[in-house]
Amino acid sequence: MSFRGNHILSIDQFNRNDIEQLFSVADKLEPFASKEKITRVLEGAILGNMFFEPSTRTRISFGASFNLLGGSVREITEVGSSSLAKGESLADTAQVLSGYSDIIVMRHPENDSVKKFSEASRVPVINGGDGSNEHPSQALLDLYTIRKELSQNDKTIDNLRIALVGDLKYGRAVHSLCKILSKYKDVKLNLISPDELKLPEDLIRQMNDSRVSINQTENLEKGISEVDIIYVTRVQEERFKNKKDANKYRGLLSLNQSIYTANCEPNTVIMHPLPRDSRSDANELDSDLYENPNLAIFRQADNGVVIRMAMFALVLGVEEKIEETSKPVNWKVGLNS
Ligand code: NCD
Repeated sequence: MSFRGNHILSIDQFNRNDIEQLFSVADKLEPFASKEKITRVLEGAILGNMFFEPSTRTRISFGASFNLLGGSVREITEVGSSSLAKGESLADTAQVLSGYSDIIVMRHPENDSVKKFSEASRVPVINGGDGSNEHPSQALLDLYTIRKELSQNDKTIDNLRIALVGDLKYGRAVHSLCKILSKYKDVKLNLISPDELKLPEDLIRQMNDSRVSINQTENLEKGISEVDIIYVTRVQEERFKNKKDANKYRGLLSLNQSIYTANCEPNTVIMHPLPRDSRSDANELDSDLYENPNLAIFRQADNGVVIRMAMFALVLGVEEKIEETSKPVNWKVGLNS
């Protein structure tokens, strides 16, 4: 795909070269994300950050990424604060907002809504999560994290062994991650979920066609032995018709240090797109894992900034110009010890 001037709606748009290109721009942007240097390459550009569903990481990291490239951010953070609440169509909203922005990131509770919105937009639109369908920027930052974590043990994404745990039916982060993994060779996937929250059949088919080896189980202990990565997810209670039904599944698949020690290989990395549900009846990743050096969840969240910077740089066609406005930073980062 060509990034420049295009919407990013689904992982289906990408091939391995596109992913490599994005990762190499992200590598170049690391000093800017970690604030060793400043760039103003997007000075004057405006991001419309349109979130019609709750978000912490995705919204703030998209906004921070745009700011780190020198651009400004305008936001909507709930349906109630926009004219969608007055009956305006997504197409009209897109027509109007794209007149005020150079690029739009959108999250919305309905599947395919971001695609519909993009069809009426005059500027590129990035899918920040559409219902239970997809979350492409999350899959890109997840794969970037997997690549980084594995490289410390001389492993590659080809030959990856990964366990996906939790709500695989409604989890859009998992759906996009499955699509991206199916682009690599000899991937072994353990799907661990209650029977009612299994990965949708169309995704299983897509991965079978790409020769991903799939094993489905409801047994956490069995599924997490002999894997390089455990990717845990939250029960997506907001997607259930009757929210109370979600209670049945909360807490069924909880990982703690003793389960990890008893079943996992020593370097197995633990990931989670976050937020993790830390209520006592769920506790899908116990706080006793804090001391575990293989708990990568906060490194994973940090990687969201550099990946989203790379997405903006490529879509707005400035990836070769980042150094032109590069300057050292003047302030001191971090706390006094
Ligand atoms: C995920 C999402 O919104 O799909 N969160 C995120 O963007 N990091 C996962 C979730 O909400 O469980």
